Amino acid sequence: MTTRADFTALVADDILPSRMPDVGLLRAYLAQGCRHGDPLCLSFGETWNQVPAGLLDHLHERPLYAHGYQLSMYGLPALRQVARDYVVDTHRLDGIAEPGRDFEVAATWTGTRGAMFDFGRYLLDELGSDGRTPIVVAAGPSWDYEGVFHSLGYQVRYLHLRPETGFRPLAEELQDVVDRVDSTPEERLAMVVVNAQHNPTAVNWRPEFVAAAVDTAHRHGAGLLVDDAYFGVHDPETEPTSALRVLLSRLGAAPPNARRRWLAVRSLGKQFHCNGWGLGLMTAEPATLDLLVNRYRLHSSLMYGGVYQHAMADWLDDPASAVFLAEQCAEYAAKRRLVDRLFHGKLNYPAGAVHTGTCTSYLLFALPEAYQRIPEGTVRFRDDTFARTGVLFAPAWPWPYAPTGSPMPYMRMYLGPGQDSLTEAVHRMAQAGIDWQMQA
Ligand SMILES: Cc1ncc(COP(=O)(O)O)c(C=O)c1O
Repeated sequence: MTTRADFTALVADDILPSRMPDVGLLRAYLAQGCRHGDPLCLSFGETWNQVPAGLLDHLHERPLYAHGYQLSMYGLPALRQVARDYVVDTHRLDGIAEPGRDFEVAATWTGTRGAMFDFGRYLLDELGSDGRTPIVVAAGPSWDYEGVFHSLGYQVRYLHLRPETGFRPLAEELQDVVDRVDSTPEERLAMVVVNAQHNPTAVNWRPEFVAAAVDTAHRHGAGLLVDDAYFGVHDPETEPTSALRVLLSRLGAAPPNARRRWLAVRSLGKQFHCNGWGLGLMTAEPATLDLLVNRYRLHSSLMYGGVYQHAMADWLDDPASAVFLAEQCAEYAAKRRLVDRLFHGKLNYPAGAVHTGTCTSYLLFALPEAYQRIPEGTVRFRDDTFARTGVLFAPAWPWPYAPTGSPMPYMRMYLGPGQDSLTEAVHRMAQAGIDWQMQA
């Protein structure tokens, strides 16, 4: 469990303020003496203290030269080699596509967020400017694609995921969003985002939907961003849809420009609790990858993070990493069941009001009825719950809250901490009278 001392080290300083609302709440709670106990932080997708011991062992064995610049913009050769095999194996690409010809793999050490930003810049140059606004289509609620692409001049449009359809994305609705863009002369479809293990809805998208999204991008000559941040995080009985596999299996029939306008990113921070290392994998058509790392990345970064890359190369190659992931998948499934049971048993939640999903490290739960009726209900519920329990949740639209997304009366709960922490969170809520029928 992350203790108040850990949080103090993470947030308490007298320098300029952090703009993250959660940091402000945590600082105030710590300053007031943690009256409900240590903060239980279920809002960020972060545990701070669950990096696997085996990975740390590899981190401690590094050669001195790992501390210098690494000399390849693709990432450390040992990591690239292992990563390429890892991508081929885990996405079952044998017989589908040829490494070196159809795709190549590189590492990123500035997060997959940084790689997405570079892809956004590459795509603008590739598409050329014709005066129309480039539009990114993503499924919402979503992770902060808007924060990455808006600053580059894109606008983001959302395909709305709704509780009535189990938060599944529907191909007809994607088509509607794209049709609206097509019928607006000042706009053009520039990019489609596929996040098949979806944050925050925890829905594993069907391969048929992914295929429809890929084909839509291809028909428009648009770029495709495959965000596989949670590909390794799913219930044991769920086979995660490999959007990369779907994409590669459809490239043969794609128009020539579509064959190079795609990037698949796979953050390694989520599955191995080491977000702070900034490590992830980038898979793209070889010439595109060359541009992404040797031109666009070079604008903002040299070759850092060798110590982490060495450790990750050894860890991915170590059978212990696969064992760790399998155990973690089983543990997340148990936590989904636990939270569902506790909300029902202790907080009077009706059946279906907790949407457990089957992948990622999140679930969604509906706002208590009274909060569904008030403006800014998600933010109010989060603040009130934290004040009364020291348990911090995030709205379904996670910070920094997409400015153009429509409100969704659901909270996102991070399932990373242990079952004891999740149980304590619900007990604190029950004790404070926070339940389905509470008053706002
Ligand atoms: C869906 C999704 N994509 C991408 C990221 C960014 O990950 P990274 O740490 O690799 O930049 C996150 C982080 O929370 C995420 O949830």
